[in-house]
Amino acid sequence: MSCGWAFQPNILFIVIDDLRTSLNCYDDPDVLSPNIDQLASKSIKFNHAYVQQAICGPSRTSFLTSRRPDTTHLYDFQSYWRVAAGNFTTLPQYFKQNGYHTASVGKVFHPGKASGGNDDFPYSWSQPPYHPPTEVYRNYKVCRGGWDDKLHRNIICPIDVNEQPGGSLPDIQSAQYAVKFLKNVSHGHIQRPFFLAVGFHKPHIPLKYPQQYLRFYPLSRIKLATDPDLPPGMPKVAWNVWSDVTSREDIKRLNVSFPYGPMPDEYQYLIRQSYFAATTYMDSLVGKVLSALDTEGLANDTIVIFLSDHGWSLGEHQEWAKYSNFEVVTRVPLILYVPKVTHFPDSISPTFPYVDVLDSIKTMPNFTNRNTAGSTSDALVELVDLFPTLVDLAGLTAIPTCPLHSNKVDLCTEGHSFAALLTELRQSNQRVRNWHKKAAFSQYPRPAFYPQADSYYTRLRDIKIMGYSMRTENYRYTEWVSFNRTSFSGDWNHIYARELYLSDTDPNEDINRAYEHGYQELVQNASHLLHLGWSSSLL
Ligand SMILES: *[C@@H]1O[C@H](CO)[C@@H](O)[C@H](O)[C@H]1NC(C)=O
Ligand SMILES: *[C@@H]1O[C@H](CO)[C@@H](O)[C@H](O)[C@H]1NC(C)=O
Ligand SMILES: *[C@@H]1O[C@H](CO)[C@@H](O)[C@H](O)[C@H]1NC(C)=O
Ligand SMILES: *[C@@H]1O[C@H](CO)[C@@H](O)[C@H](O)[C@H]1NC(C)=O
Ligand SMILES: *[C@@H]1O[C@H](CO)[C@@H](O)[C@H](O)[C@H]1NC(C)=O
Ligand SMILES: *[C@@H]1O[C@H](CO)[C@@H](O)[C@H](O)[C@H]1NC(C)=O
Ligand SMILES: *[C@@H]1O[C@H](CO)[C@@H](O)[C@H](O)[C@H]1NC(C)=O
Repeated sequence: MSCGWAFQPNILFIVIDDLRTSLNCYDDPDVLSPNIDQLASKSIKFNHAYVQQAICGPSRTSFLTSRRPDTTHLYDFQSYWRVAAGNFTTLPQYFKQNGYHTASVGKVFHPGKASGGNDDFPYSWSQPPYHPPTEVYRNYKVCRGGWDDKLHRNIICPIDVNEQPGGSLPDIQSAQYAVKFLKNVSHGHIQRPFFLAVGFHKPHIPLKYPQQYLRFYPLSRIKLATDPDLPPGMPKVAWNVWSDVTSREDIKRLNVSFPYGPMPDEYQYLIRQSYFAATTYMDSLVGKVLSALDTEGLANDTIVIFLSDHGWSLGEHQEWAKYSNFEVVTRVPLILYVPKVTHFPDSISPTFPYVDVLDSIKTMPNFTNRNTAGSTSDALVELVDLFPTLVDLAGLTAIPTCPLHSNKVDLCTEGHSFAALLTELRQSNQRVRNWHKKAAFSQYPRPAFYPQADSYYTRLRDIKIMGYSMRTENYRYTEWVSFNRTSFSGDWNHIYARELYLSDTDPNEDINRAYEHGYQELVQNASHLLHLGWSSSLL
């Protein structure tokens, strides 16, 4: 699609760590997210966007290369695709090759081995990736536990920023750096067009955030998950062990039983409270970066994309964290702002005025769902679709669809551009439908059928079973099959378990219908579609 750009548009790519759709503009009117809501009100908001694997490294490598885990060969954090799978051209790299100045701030690629030890620099980036200096204190004991006078390494960690080592927090520093970058662009120190990727860490655990944000979430207003119990029909292999949660000092001392818990109610309230407070904190920082687009005169020619690498269970199914194929962790917020398409900036009113919640909201707000403007799409989209979509929107040469085995092909996509969805936009409040993906695909590996210590994070060498999952308009269907670590593929003839959840009547996925009499024909049809896979998923 051509957007008729006079100049190449800039790209601002904002990626959040472990953010589920608990935003005011999505599913959760009790969460305060005014800056992201404002972005959504000038954007197209996707209600059905899915990740390819619900864990940071594999998800990020997947959407940044536009290939799925069976092609990147990354299911853990232990390999670099250029060495282990193929010399795939990444999304930022393609923009760089097309004349963009590309920059990475904070957590964009999964750091460490998974991106070659240097966030895929210099291939993907024009300048060395920026990591906030206070990131080194990430796992320091800085949290008050309340049970003694000492500082601990907790999950729940509201803090006083001034008392922190380095006197700041990583996301605050990343936002400051991004704002300076945008200033440098407008002062001509950085060449246009740019592709700026900004990755925020919160609300990933530990839930460490300035304690002022707690004021919006008194415990009396926090609700538990509506389905907090272990679903009886859930096959054991589907269960995500949440050991990274129980290993933190505050949770460890509760002696939560392995593998199913449950987490004591009192702590469920506390974790939810801090997850939401950390989300509002992150929203403020997103707001600072967005408002800099206005200040620097860039809101007219910058495409903004906002997404998360996967969701997070907050007690649903008795589960915490990610590490599964359920809707709550595979579905993510995805918001796309395209100037003069989703919104017409003018010279009078700023597009993204900063909403300072700490300053402007003194008392508890009466929460309402305020996302009344903007467009929404119910189309199924996958994060592998982002690369070809942004390429289309920026008017660059489209990239080809990958063949079934593409490890020798440097530049191709296992997704599909959904830019066509935007041509349908005419005015606010429109629901856009004309996208024809039949299914979104995700997967999750396990070392065994029954929950093990490493069932949440399984190294490639230990993977025995892969759960291949597919979300259609009406249901989620999953097959847990034996996995061949040499061919990186599942054996459809060796099935450990199936799951079928009906989205309309059971949106939380608590009732597994896969073994019920009345659903066998649907299971057969779904199984057929799952085996055909992503390459047959466009209608
Ligand atoms: C990988 O591709 C990049 C360009 O995208 C190239 O500079 C590099 O030499 C390639 N590496 C290998 C091992 O082929
Ligand atoms: C902004 O530009 C100045 C002057 O060239 C440079 O010293 C600084 O590192 C730049 N900062 C960012 C974030 O680009
Ligand atoms: C957890 O177990 C330890 C050691 O067995 C015990 O001292 C402690 O009281 C237990 N805590 C709770 C909350 O049950
Ligand atoms: C953005 O474009 C509109 C019309 O195309 C123009 O009126 C406005 O002044 C521009 N705003 C900025 C900040 O350049
Ligand atoms: C809060 O909003 C609800 C729904 O709009 C309204 O009925 C209620 O009166 C409001 N409460 C306060 C204290 O403003
Ligand atoms: C796994 O895949 C490899 C490579 O395709 C093949 O040689 C091997 O027989 C497969 N193993 C099993 C158990 O099917
Ligand atoms: C299964 O697929 C067949 C053939 O496409 C179709 O006729 C039938 O209605 C489907 N059944 C269900 C339950 O979806």
